[in-house]
Amino acid sequence: MWEEYFKKHMGRKPRELLVLAVSFCKNKENALDLGAGTLIESKFLVKKGFKHVLATDSSPEVKIFAKKLKNKKFKFKNISFHKYNFPKNTFNLINAQYALPFYGKRGFKSFIKKITGSLAPKGIFVGQFFGARDSWNNSKSNLAFHTKKQALDLLSGLKILEFIEEEKDGKDASGEQKHWHVFHFIVQEK
Ligand SMILES: C[S@@+](CC[C@H](N)C(=O)[O-])C[C@H]1O[C@@H](n2cnc3c(N)ncnc32)[C@H](O)[C@@H]1O
Repeated sequence: MWEEYFKKHMGRKPRELLVLAVSFCKNKENALDLGAGTLIESKFLVKKGFKHVLATDSSPEVKIFAKKLKNKKFKFKNISFHKYNFPKNTFNLINAQYALPFYGKRGFKSFIKKITGSLAPKGIFVGQFFGARDSWNNSKSNLAFHTKKQALDLLSGLKILEFIEEEKDGKDASGEQKHWHVFHFIVQEK
């Protein structure tokens, strides 16, 4: 399902939002990369000095990328967001680039609670929510979409370091025209 996306993204630079998020991290013991895809961001986290980087993704293709990433600091779990047992108070950084909305609508709020409960004190959570005006938001879609207020509510109780609303016409990974409405955020556990 994600083959085309992975092909398109192979070889790109690490996402700038993550680069910025890492600059806020003082402690680099444990990082989690959720919906890690091509593992570009996971590799970046290893390079930036995280001692343990765990990547998770439900797509079987990611297993192949993970086998190629031979580094003692890196681990991969081929598991869905729904089945992963988030350890409490563990991660200094949780990265979820363009991944969270694919959890689906049902139970999305408790999914985010599990993620934030997995942050160590002062831990950083970085990622995106899809906005309600995104053109993928139609009656058939099972992805999670949020208004600005709902997006901010999901992050309540955390310190907001960055919150950017992006809205633009563009293309998806398969070259299809679409309207993007995305909330990019970096937040910190208090
Ligand atoms: C849009 S891609 C983003 C990949 C990567 N983070 C990036 O920025 O290029 C979404 C990723 O989430 C993964 N994914 C989708 N649904 C998932 C689920 N329910 N559990 C775990 N991973 C999932 C896909 O396999 C895919 O790698």
